[in-house]
Amino acid sequence: MKPLYPVLALALVLASCAPKAPQAIPSDKAVEAKVEKVLKGMTLEEKAGQLVQLNISTLEDATHEKIDPAKLEKIIGEYKVGSILNVMHDRAHSREETAAMVRQIQEYSMEKIGIPCIYGLDMIHGASYLTDGSLYPQEINLGATFNREFARQMGHAMAYETRAAQVPWVFSPVMDLGRDPRWPRIWESFGEDPFLQAEMAREETLALQGEDPNHIDLQHVAVSLKHFVGYGVPVSGKDRTPAIIAPNDLREKFFAPFLECFRAGALTAMVNSASINGVPTHANALLLTGWVKEELGWDGMLVTDWADIDNFYVRDHVAADKREAIALGINAGIDMIMDPYDPECCKDIVALVKEGRISPARLDDAVRRVLRLKVRLGLFDKPVWDEVYPEFGSEQFARESYAAALESEVLLKNDGILPLNGNERILVCGPNANSLRALNGGWSYTWQGNADAFVPQYNTILEALQKRFSNVSYEPGVTYIDIPMAWQYEDAKGIGRAVGAARNADIIVACVGENSYCETPGNMDDLNLSANQKKLVKDLSATGKPIILILNEGRPRLIGDIEPLASAVVDVMLPSNFGGDALAALLSGDENFSGKLPFTYSKHINALHTYDYKVSEHRETMEGSYNYDAIMDVQWPFGHGLSYTTYAYSNLQVSAASFKAGDVLKVTVDVTNTGSRAGKEAVLVYSSDLVASLIPDVKRLRGFDKVALEPGETKTVSFEIPASALAFVGADGLWRLEEGDFRISCGGLGQLVKCTETFVWGTPNI
Ligand code: BGC
Repeated sequence: MKPLYPVLALALVLASCAPKAPQAIPSDKAVEAKVEKVLKGMTLEEKAGQLVQLNISTLEDATHEKIDPAKLEKIIGEYKVGSILNVMHDRAHSREETAAMVRQIQEYSMEKIGIPCIYGLDMIHGASYLTDGSLYPQEINLGATFNREFARQMGHAMAYETRAAQVPWVFSPVMDLGRDPRWPRIWESFGEDPFLQAEMAREETLALQGEDPNHIDLQHVAVSLKHFVGYGVPVSGKDRTPAIIAPNDLREKFFAPFLECFRAGALTAMVNSASINGVPTHANALLLTGWVKEELGWDGMLVTDWADIDNFYVRDHVAADKREAIALGINAGIDMIMDPYDPECCKDIVALVKEGRISPARLDDAVRRVLRLKVRLGLFDKPVWDEVYPEFGSEQFARESYAAALESEVLLKNDGILPLNGNERILVCGPNANSLRALNGGWSYTWQGNADAFVPQYNTILEALQKRFSNVSYEPGVTYIDIPMAWQYEDAKGIGRAVGAARNADIIVACVGENSYCETPGNMDDLNLSANQKKLVKDLSATGKPIILILNEGRPRLIGDIEPLASAVVDVMLPSNFGGDALAALLSGDENFSGKLPFTYSKHINALHTYDYKVSEHRETMEGSYNYDAIMDVQWPFGHGLSYTTYAYSNLQVSAASFKAGDVLKVTVDVTNTGSRAGKEAVLVYSSDLVASLIPDVKRLRGFDKVALEPGETKTVSFEIPASALAFVGADGLWRLEEGDFRISCGGLGQLVKCTETFVWGTPNI
């Protein structure tokens, strides 16, 4: 296997040229001493075991509910595997059940090899895999709040409840930018924008790990930033398929949120399952070793995604067999292999070291990284713990989840029909009306999501509306055929009945969208909302009754032809267990909308854009000429979101008319609530580089804040934007800020400022 060696060589050259950066995580003497002491006493077999992570299914007995002692002996005792992931039977268990299971593994590991096992779980929007834990709205919803507080709250609760179940490691936050609406995982991220993603993920990371990455206490857990890097933009739109990403874009947009979190102390990262520009990311030494470990001086641990070493020979054809694949990954910078079913992997690593295909130095480096993680987590001192967690599943976490749902549901259109007056005869229909599964999305009690089976006590949209309004009837029209691992099947036989019921209603609340899915099973061939659901809306509209369209979906399904039929449109995305209650409060006007879209809602299948498109992009105008003003025809732009009040922006000021690379721009703007209701406004500040040596983006988000305003109240909102934040990555891979005009804009106002020098940074990251 030769073809990827040049990449490794280039990485080493770059790494050796790169100026030494300050360590992303400060080294701690006591931690390092402990790591060295343990390492010294380890056999080759024990070292190999530390580099392997297996699925819990390898330990399950025939009931899939308990650990089989013989398997424990084989996997931990014989193979000395250092990490286990996932849940038994692909379903959530209670905190006690989970804790007991992890304790059993942990105690056995300490007894047999004297090194604690590290257990990892996919906690994605709260305690995804605990039946009695707390769930928050998915990341895409938190993005829509533009409120950092919710990322902190979710991170805190997730860490606390995960620790309470004896698990010290979560595979969160998800860092993939939701820049292609066809991709089935965009709801796992905070949206399409690198800055929004970076800000929210940093807050979540700090809340999950705490402020001291060398000493994670019993209220915190290690994060795994995922999926490093560039996972979200496959050319095909299908999960785990190849991406083509320009190198400067990779650093400027995709790497930026990871960088922010590495600098905040993130202890581990999971690698992108797919490939970029022909190189499987797990084999990309330039990215794994060069960008992360060398450039950042990062001493954390890189884990593969699910069976991605196997993918080198099974899927990608860059290795001939398993051993070649293992060597390729480990030599590129992988420290832990999520195999997930094959403990033989440990023996392969031993053989590869003996054959000289993995050097002892690389082996020890990887083992150190695994041990360092375990030491930092305190697992050697306390492999299991007796801490009490009184806030587990608390009212406080539930209140936060509800508050986040309220701020995340986005009012996209309102002809005045909302808020409802409460006396209307409301017909609720659509396949999403009565489904907690759909409200939560994937990673909710099961991988593909199955909330109804676990937490029926929460309110669906229908139940919440029935509680809030006196005259609510229900005729779904279209239902999902509820198959646990499939989401696309629908039954449309009820459309006639729904239309009949509409005749006796004053208002129709049509809840459409998607059933839950996760990862590759969420792939699809048409971004349009399903034909059945469109037909339902069209037939309902023919009754002449006003329609409030509720979109409950993990990605913006195209609705260009039915949007004109709706009097109001609300995108609730995936607001989790309190999403129905939040919607009822918003539709009734008990609460005010304040969410804004964290992605561009496209209108046409051949015009999928992000808001930061290039100024030179154009579409043909009606007259057949080109539109060089680059006006995009989208359904709703990034940042769009209405409320029951109105806001006026005035007095946008930038501290100085000109600036240099080392300066900080102080931007202020006055925001006034000009309506008659209290509200919260997400204030978004953008910059536009008017002339640059690479075609500039139309605009880029550089700051956001959320302010509460009483009617008539004005607040001055301030932002500090380092001039360096306006830089871009040039064709040579270096960050550059160029002399010339920039426009700072906010709330429809704009101000020109001049950069008076061209500055190119000598380091790869600024
Ligand atoms: C997913 C990851 C997840 C891992 C472990 C993979 O299939 O891509 O996001 O963390 O499984 O469950």
